[in-house]
Amino acid sequence: MARRARSSGAAVAFAAAAAVAGCTGWSFLLPGASSQQGSRREALGAGLLGALAAGAQVAEAYELPPLGYAYDALEPSIDKATMEFHHDKHHNTYLTNINKALKDKEEPSILDLQKGAIKAGNAVRNNGGGFYNHNMFWTEMAPTGTGGKPSGALAAAIDKAFGSFDDMKAKFEAAGAPGARFGSGWVWLVVTKDKGLAITSTPNQDNPLMDGVEGTPGIPILGCDVWEHAYYLKYQFKRPDYIKAWWNVVNWPVVGQWYDGALQGKAPTTKGSETASFAL
Ligand SMILES: [Fe+2]
Repeated sequence: MARRARSSGAAVAFAAAAAVAGCTGWSFLLPGASSQQGSRREALGAGLLGALAAGAQVAEAYELPPLGYAYDALEPSIDKATMEFHHDKHHNTYLTNINKALKDKEEPSILDLQKGAIKAGNAVRNNGGGFYNHNMFWTEMAPTGTGGKPSGALAAAIDKAFGSFDDMKAKFEAAGAPGARFGSGWVWLVVTKDKGLAITSTPNQDNPLMDGVEGTPGIPILGCDVWEHAYYLKYQFKRPDYIKAWWNVVNWPVVGQWYDGALQGKAPTTKGSETASFAL
């Protein structure tokens, strides 16, 4: 259970003391300080106050990963404005809220958090799920024309499970259509406990790693966000058109690596294409 340090209480205390020292003339409290002229003291005090403010900003343990490509790199499948809002606002809100929900509590890796998220209650379920799902979403996409198609073991498994790649896409699109997934949610390609492939969908920000999830549990290797915020600016009510266009920006080499990992009982960590052990 990894926990990245939130802001150090000692560092904050030091910065506070230093700021006071800088402002009051008690500069002897500062390492290396001697008799100070006013201008230097003010500069020092300002710098330490800045450090104090910066310390407050690094208090969160999970962090928003940058996109690995430009906001407009997925055009025309996904427009630039949607990517800006989706990543910088929606995803960032899940991040802020999961950090708030876990404030002063033990904070596991974002992957480990998923298993018990439903039992943990709505704050962890919705925001921890939302943070994990979107990290995966950005990683499994690639600039238009660069994502290739399924190959190797993954391509063979898709043919075996669904008949062909086209049949798999049709089944996936059907699972994400408003009639099948009413309201907000995700569609997933998962590796099940028996190492087979399955398509499933989940409501809201649930995912197939969560104990007690609706649908088929499994290790997700591909997920499509079918919340309106993912497509409405460009596609309005035409969610099926969005899913069809989305295939053009799937990063199949990454999905293939996640498939290989899932066969060994490992799930995406959302740190690039890395995986880590996960007991379904
Ligand atoms: Fe989303």
